[in-house]
Amino acid sequence: MRLIMLGAPGAGKGTHALLLSKEYNIPQISTGDILRSHIKNETDLGKKAKKYMDKGLLVPDELVVEIVKKRIQEEDCKEGFILDGFPRTIPQAEALDKALEELAIALDKVVNIDVPDEVIIKRMAGRRVCSNCGASYHIENKKPLKENICDECGSELKQREDDKEETVRKRLQVYEEQTKPLIEYYEKRGILLTIEGDGSVEEIGNKIKSALEVSK
Ligand code: AP5
Repeated sequence: MRLIMLGAPGAGKGTHALLLSKEYNIPQISTGDILRSHIKNETDLGKKAKKYMDKGLLVPDELVVEIVKKRIQEEDCKEGFILDGFPRTIPQAEALDKALEELAIALDKVVNIDVPDEVIIKRMAGRRVCSNCGASYHIENKKPLKENICDECGSELKQREDDKEETVRKRLQVYEEQTKPLIEYYEKRGILLTIEGDGSVEEIGNKIKSALEVSK
């Protein structure tokens, strides 16, 4: 199964990509996580990416396209993968098409999670992430067992730099302008599944799984 998770920042792409990755036993490829790990390790790419990410802007296409092209050719992607946060622009989608064609593989579905902006802003304000392993929590909807401590590795939880309300609003604007056109791009191909994403994680997860089963 080769999937793309599409949706505004905070729509739940990462949450559901992780659940689907466990369900189908295929890797979740989050360009945001990969970029954040470059920032943490202070690589050249990380230094370049940070300037854009802190402002809520997209990292230039050529940087992310190269990351994804390499990653989908790794051994664990043979049976499929879930792209989380990529593509985010039409040129990225075109570059992905070209790369998949060269590898003689095709996308199965694009899961578009649709959530109203105000719900997103509330969700992002409550998100906390592990400063060490990147696991994601929410102060109301997905509390860690011990306050402010990661269940997975015991490290401290922090608010992401780009989750401050002003930056979230900028990210939503960038999404409208640069990423939303991908809905039409994949709709025309007949592989788009749009899921109403305002509800509990369980409800939305069930809707996604049913839509994927029905469309098989
Ligand atoms: P990235 O890390 O991809 O951020 P994003 O798309 O903005 O997505 P988020 O991780 O913020 O949200 P999500 O949709 O995964 O939601 P989540 O499941 O975490 O990218 C960050 C930056 O990197 C970008 O701004 C850009 O600069 C750069 N970048 C990355 N990819 C790029 C690309 N391809 N091209 C260029 N630049 C790129 O959920 C959010 C919160 O809500 C969590 O706390 C969660 O627990 C909670 N939650 C989820 N679902 C529910 C629910 N149903 N009910 C209640 N709470 C919920």
